[in-house]
Amino acid sequence: MKYSKLFLLLFVTQFYAQQGGMWLPNMLKGDRETEMKNLGMKLTAEQIYSVNKSSLKDAVPQFDGGCTAEVISDKGLILTNHHCGYDNIQSHSTIEHDYLTNGFWAYKLEEELPNPGVVVTFIVKIEDITSKVLENTTSLTTEADKQKKIQENISNLTKSLPKETWQENLIKTFYDGNQYILFVTETYKDIRLVGAPPSSIGKFGSDTDNWVWPRHTGDFSLFRIYADKNNRPAEYSTENVPYKPKHFFPISIKGIKENDFTMVMGYPGRTQEYLPSFAVEQIVNNLNPAKIEVRDAALKAQDRFMRKDNAIKIQYASKYAAVANYWKKWIGETKGLKKSNAIAFKQKFEKELTEKINKAGKQSEYGNLLSDFEKNYAEIKDYALARDLFSEVVLRNTELLQTGYKLYQLEQLLANKGEQAFTDRKNNLAKGIDAFYKDYNNEVDKNVFEQLIAIYANRMPKQFLPSTLNNLNANELTNDIYTNSSLTSLEKFRALLDGDTNTVINKINNDKGYQLVKSLADAYVKNIAPKYDELNLKNIATQRTYMKAIMELSPKSARIFPDANSTLRVTYGKVKGYKPADAIYYEPFSTLDGVMEKYIPGDYEFDVPQKLIDLYNAKDFGMYANSKGKMPVAFIATNHTTGGNSGSPALDASGNLIGLNFDRVWEGTMSDIYYSPEICRNIMVDLRYVLFIIDKYAGAKNIINELKIIKKEKK
Ligand code: ARG
Ligand code: ASP
Repeated sequence: MKYSKLFLLLFVTQFYAQQGGMWLPNMLKGDRETEMKNLGMKLTAEQIYSVNKSSLKDAVPQFDGGCTAEVISDKGLILTNHHCGYDNIQSHSTIEHDYLTNGFWAYKLEEELPNPGVVVTFIVKIEDITSKVLENTTSLTTEADKQKKIQENISNLTKSLPKETWQENLIKTFYDGNQYILFVTETYKDIRLVGAPPSSIGKFGSDTDNWVWPRHTGDFSLFRIYADKNNRPAEYSTENVPYKPKHFFPISIKGIKENDFTMVMGYPGRTQEYLPSFAVEQIVNNLNPAKIEVRDAALKAQDRFMRKDNAIKIQYASKYAAVANYWKKWIGETKGLKKSNAIAFKQKFEKELTEKINKAGKQSEYGNLLSDFEKNYAEIKDYALARDLFSEVVLRNTELLQTGYKLYQLEQLLANKGEQAFTDRKNNLAKGIDAFYKDYNNEVDKNVFEQLIAIYANRMPKQFLPSTLNNLNANELTNDIYTNSSLTSLEKFRALLDGDTNTVINKINNDKGYQLVKSLADAYVKNIAPKYDELNLKNIATQRTYMKAIMELSPKSARIFPDANSTLRVTYGKVKGYKPADAIYYEPFSTLDGVMEKYIPGDYEFDVPQKLIDLYNAKDFGMYANSKGKMPVAFIATNHTTGGNSGSPALDASGNLIGLNFDRVWEGTMSDIYYSPEICRNIMVDLRYVLFIIDKYAGAKNIINELKIIKKEKK
């Protein structure tokens, strides 16, 4: 009994030890490839990434800067999440054509909808250029000089390294400044909407289910890349033709089992896995709680209006979802960091590192790292809180202050760059502000403001609070501003910007709303930002040396993966359930049965379209049912993902598409700071559900016919 338990423990540790991490696709050969094969992969590293031959990476572009997509047909059809296409689906929506509510399907190429400004970026080549970036920097003694030279080298190399005229060079740092990598990219600019399910499928469960397993969301949308006649990037034109990809993913509907190998490719945005304990402690106890409080209040205020008024619901849907997303994530992250004792774990790690430093006789190089961190983080504490409050309240969650801040930047521009720059920006602002006011409601924002300005005054360390907020009467200030400020409507805003430079400067400085923004922004720019930046720069330098020490003093076999930085990565693992809490076990698959269990007629989060109910009742699942005759919806695995991985392809052992990544589980949301393989899981829509919705629900056979579908072998 005892032996078998020990064996099990060893087995489990071994199994999990091979997972976690987001790896660069050009660096898989060797240990990573071996691990992947041990986990069941049948591909070679060369098939995933190759410069000369088409490889999987050619089918995985970044979608519009923040998400991932994958190419699924030879006509440039791409799949991403519903929440990644959400802004575009929303911007095509009106009360009459409400694609958010009802979905949208193009049954012919001509019906596809263009999305000005949306881009899709492919990676052509990845190359380590660390030595080039660090050239002539070793002799420089101060950190500031070093950074300046590095930036200079980067900007020169970006221009001079070879590439085709339609390509771009992008240089990114890895391991906190210990490595520099070049990405040669191609960015396509004519991206059209092809299909989106109704929100009652694509956003089923909405914010209640967000970051939660078990999940039942069909979180997908379809776009198409258009190129010029030479298959190269081009601005939108009716002459453009569907893009011919170097690779596209076949879709396997053969079915998946627990413990099957999966890998996810995509563009994870930001992780901080190597933060010292002092930093994690501040996130848990100071920064996250303050940000959560601000967003909590903003969301409650907006929600009251959105529930009563459908026009407001459409106006605020996308903004609300984005704010709610990280609000909830921070709550889960804070809980998870506490429950997993992340701070104690980091402290233990730091103690061990210190021992290694001493043992290696590296005290002069690395001996002060942790005491430096401790001192810096103690000093930066109030500044970091002030900075987060400013950015959450002024820049992010109160719309009037947000627009006011644009005018603040405009006035600064006049002071720093002169009148021509001022006039250009002023004209752009007057032109571009339509989209902002289209989705602005004065009553809603007024309610948000009243709450948030009170929190600001209350939470802000007193030394940073401008006199305008001393003895604040939030209600009075709110009424005054939202009655008298010209920032409250498009017409008044335009009028504010009308006239010559002096007139405009006078007008804005007489505006109540602007006056408040200016006092807040001045306090930030003068009293908070400079000191924050100075201390932060110290932390960045310490972090770089700390990372260097970790890499140098860990055994060769250690799995030290670089933090996410919005570059293409590969993560791999297995389909697996998990234990979220004592006495509970979560299975790794969900089905349409669960959609029906959660169904609440007419509810804004859990309504189900009649047609889906009919298909469910008729068990009309076609070839997409699982082996038990049920309709699969979502599944989870041990892939290490983060924000930006949304829309990422989940691939089987042979590189076929089986899932579409869209989220993580609640108990594992701390994975950006502390990844624990026992409990961190990524959530994917099963591709069988995606195809079922396209085929049976939308009747879009035109789309199904474009795909390469790998079916079960008939016996
Ligand atoms: N949590 C997922 C991610 O971080 C999905 C977000 C979109 N869904 C939502 N209900 N807001 O992006
Ligand atoms: N939902 C996230 C995204 O949009 C993915 C995640 O954070 O797991 O990228």
